[in-house]
Amino acid sequence: MSALFSPIRLADLELSNRIVVSPMCQYSADDGSANDWHLGHLGMLANSGAGLVVVEATHVERHGRITHGCLGLYSDHNEAALAHVIAHCKRIGTAKMGIQLAHAGRKASSQRPWEGGGALKEGQDPWPTIAPSAIPFGPNWHTPKAMDDNDIARVRDAFVNSAKRALRIGFDLIELHYAHGYLAHSFLSPISNQRTDGYGGSLINRMRFGIETARAVRAVVPRHIPLGARLSAMEWKEGGITADETIAYSKALKAEGLDFIDCSSGGITSETRTPTDPGYNVPIAERVKKETGIATRVVGMIIKPEQGEAIVAEGKADMIALGRAMLDDPRWGWHAAQALGAEVPRTQQYLRVGPKLWAPAAQKRAS
Ligand SMILES: Cc1cc2nc3c(=O)[nH]c(=O)nc-3n(C[C@H](O)[C@H](O)[C@H](O)COP(=O)(O)O)c2cc1C
Repeated sequence: MSALFSPIRLADLELSNRIVVSPMCQYSADDGSANDWHLGHLGMLANSGAGLVVVEATHVERHGRITHGCLGLYSDHNEAALAHVIAHCKRIGTAKMGIQLAHAGRKASSQRPWEGGGALKEGQDPWPTIAPSAIPFGPNWHTPKAMDDNDIARVRDAFVNSAKRALRIGFDLIELHYAHGYLAHSFLSPISNQRTDGYGGSLINRMRFGIETARAVRAVVPRHIPLGARLSAMEWKEGGITADETIAYSKALKAEGLDFIDCSSGGITSETRTPTDPGYNVPIAERVKKETGIATRVVGMIIKPEQGEAIVAEGKADMIALGRAMLDDPRWGWHAAQALGAEVPRTQQYLRVGPKLWAPAAQKRAS
């Protein structure tokens, strides 16, 4: 009996297995609106065998987008376009659909990766960025404006408005993007937050923006719909947040009624390098799970089915998320089920793939 393929319940949402497609920016939207690319891409992943697909970072205000091609949920047009895509995924796919709500902060106004990935230059329609402190992400990056109380309230309200749009669209789960050096993470990190008011300094103060935003969003997301956060649980940088701070933050978010924490890491400055070894976030995810008791997801270089199975079976995390491996093999869930001798839901059009096709492989395994 596979642990990876056992169901899990988050709030009132039942996922058929513990495999999650990690949110992945496609840099292909039109002024924040999803289009045919997203229809094909997310439709494909909705039939990957994963229990849950989380839609890429979807930004709560126009200037909060990372690039000109990033998804947003700040206009009626954004909402209608994404509603069309999600209705399609639910009609044709087997996965539940989640969304990651985000604000890019000082990493906004940047080029798509294939355009260089740096800050937008003159002539590329750059825009002013905001952050807890007026400290750029790295050399040659925009210097953000230090947010005042009005900015903080506006962005918090923007998260709430986008969450309402996400609920109207019919998303099964909402995730707050509190990782990778984007706005909320940059409030938590002493590297990017050097404020001297109630939002900077002590851990309590650095947590305040994330906590207040989570509280405001939780107030409009009904308790039966799971709400969680992705954290950069490790910064991989001297002077950054500590593992103990991550535990304290996770506990505080749990106390605000969040249903899960997703452990990612890194991204606080342009020089930071994230590890590349298999399952590099598993040790911190295990601590979060054991020391807070919140449902925990882990991401990062999880590639093989047996690796994912061991993480869940050994109680190191409740769910695994895969990014690049899902792009490489968009039927990863099917193939993992085959490798682990488990069942995976398949859309009716594809039901003829299954035991008969796999029988020779199973016989070979047995002999
Ligand atoms: C093309 C691409 C886009 C990504 N976009 C996002 C994103 O929108 N939000 C996010 O939290 N992480 C994003 N990530 C990070 C992934 O979700 C994942 O955490 C990371 O790739 C590590 O997992 P992996 O080793 O399975 O790829 C992105 C990664 C890739 C490769």
